[in-house]
Amino acid sequence: MLQPHKLLSLIITSLLWSWCTLNGVVSDPQTHLLSQECTPTSLLVSNFSIVMKSLNATFRDVRKQIITQNKYFATAQQDNGENPVTALFQCRNYLSVHDCVTCCDVAAAQIRNCPAAGGHVVYNGCFLRYNLSLYMIINALLHAHLNQHIQGAHNRSV
Ligand SMILES: *[C@@H]1O[C@H](CO)[C@@H](O)[C@H](O)[C@H]1NC(C)=O
Ligand SMILES: *[C@@H]1O[C@H](CO)[C@@H](O)[C@H](O)[C@H]1NC(C)=O
Ligand SMILES: *[C@@H]1O[C@H](CO)[C@@H](O)[C@H](O)[C@H]1NC(C)=O
Repeated sequence: MLQPHKLLSLIITSLLWSWCTLNGVVSDPQTHLLSQECTPTSLLVSNFSIVMKSLNATFRDVRKQIITQNKYFATAQQDNGENPVTALFQCRNYLSVHDCVTCCDVAAAQIRNCPAAGGHVVYNGCFLRYNLSLYMIINALLHAHLNQHIQGAHNRSV
């Protein structure tokens, strides 16, 4: 007959072991890229470093929601008044929180490759999309328009 403390440690060891194995087997963030789309707008956005900062902030927010609130679906908006960005993230509800966050990180890194007025990436495990606010797009359009006028006036005057 096992002594109680030995029995207990045996149970704990086997629990730990099965938990680790299960985790090892099941962990799969499913980051196979299925589709990607970037709204082509090189004309619309004049300063991507500002956009990137807002994007980073919304992705950080989404990430935090997954971890602290165990969310499979999260939206975030970076609204510092200047460069609002909206992001929407969803992962399959059978993913673990760890896999969900991994998928989110992969998606965020991928979407940073195509700075645009908006875009989305789809993996088998998760989905991420973002867009810039209309305000920012209109502002950039106005800028482009003004620049064209200034350029035109300049060309006429030489
Ligand atoms: C873009 O914005 C950053 C941060 O506000 C600024 O430092 C940089 O000079 C800007 N770049 C251009 C090309 O306007
Ligand atoms: C955004 O995040 C990426 C990855 O963490 C980093 O390389 C980049 O410098 C960040 N950009 C800004 C403007 O914060
Ligand atoms: C950006 O996305 C949000 C949420 O999906 C939507 O409500 C908004 O109309 C979109 N804005 C633009 C400019 O596409």
